[in-house]
Amino acid sequence: SWTMLNIVEESVETVRRQVGEGRAICALSGGVDSAVAAAIVQRAIGDRLTCVFVDHGLLRKGEAEQVERDFVAATGVKLRVVDAAERFLKALEGVTDPEEKRKIIGREFIRVFEDEQRAIMADGPVDFLVQGTLYPDVVESGGGTGTANIKSHHNVGGLPEDLQFTLVEPLRALFKDEVRRAGEELGLPAAMVWRQPFPGPGLGIRIVGEVTRERLEILREADAIAREELSRAGLDRQIWQCPVVLLADVRSVGVQGDGRTYGHPVVLRPVTSEDAMTADWSRVPYDVLSRISTRITNEVREINRVVLDVTSKPPGTIEWE
Ligand code: XMP
Repeated sequence: SWTMLNIVEESVETVRRQVGEGRAICALSGGVDSAVAAAIVQRAIGDRLTCVFVDHGLLRKGEAEQVERDFVAATGVKLRVVDAAERFLKALEGVTDPEEKRKIIGREFIRVFEDEQRAIMADGPVDFLVQGTLYPDVVESGGGTGTANIKSHHNVGGLPEDLQFTLVEPLRALFKDEVRRAGEELGLPAAMVWRQPFPGPGLGIRIVGEVTRERLEILREADAIAREELSRAGLDRQIWQCPVVLLADVRSVGVQGDGRTYGHPVVLRPVTSEDAMTADWSRVPYDVLSRISTRITNEVREINRVVLDVTSKPPGTIEWE
């Protein structure tokens, strides 16, 4: 739209003035905020922006490709991809405690990012760090600016406090829906623009139990089916998000064909919400639930049961970990 075009152009101009002839780096998460922020800065300073995408191996099906292929094709951003899945898996070996998982994933993310930062700075100094801070984040953190750290509460995008960068925050005046419209204006892939909230630690906190490569594979397939069917039913915009959770240490008896199975359950956790502070379980139509259940149990061999979480928040949280 006309006004969104103005907002984008104005913000490109502001970045151009702020960064001048300098260089900037930006960590992409796969989410809409960092993607739109990076696309704006790319328009302003071109190749003097380097984006870094740390693939921790905990994303959902197709999400890494969205960043590496579709986002780059749409924007022309200069991108460094780090395939760090092995490293994250190793660090998560034997870990079942949710907060421990978060700590490890956050720590590894910072280490990998710092290595990349050093490599980028070998080509010359970098003074600016791009962040997708939105207006609600600004308000929440008291409106400060400068070299401060973003709210790190539990986000994998949380970067070390001692980074000596000046922040570039082109989304500081925008609300989420405006960021999405800016993303459309900038021609970003629709799957990124409309992606529902997804936690930084990713599928790592949707496997109750230890995170392993096999379990990630199983969950990724089940999650992809649930997302596909919810989209097909036109429910994307009504549902805030729908975690699919693998109860990896639980097995139950089932039957398939002539044989007895002893597989794992997945939990569907569709919720409606305004801001994730409170939430209600979504009344997804039975026929949609039925399609999801049939497809998951047919197509994902290790899963023989699909259950629905009907708990509101509070007392339940949205995620299971
Ligand atoms: P809960 O489970 O606390 O989730 O009701 C509220 C919202 O926050 C997301 N979430 C996270 N996001 N890192 C994130 O970046 C995390 O560790 C994390 N834990 C939960 C969750 O998906 C929901 O949108």
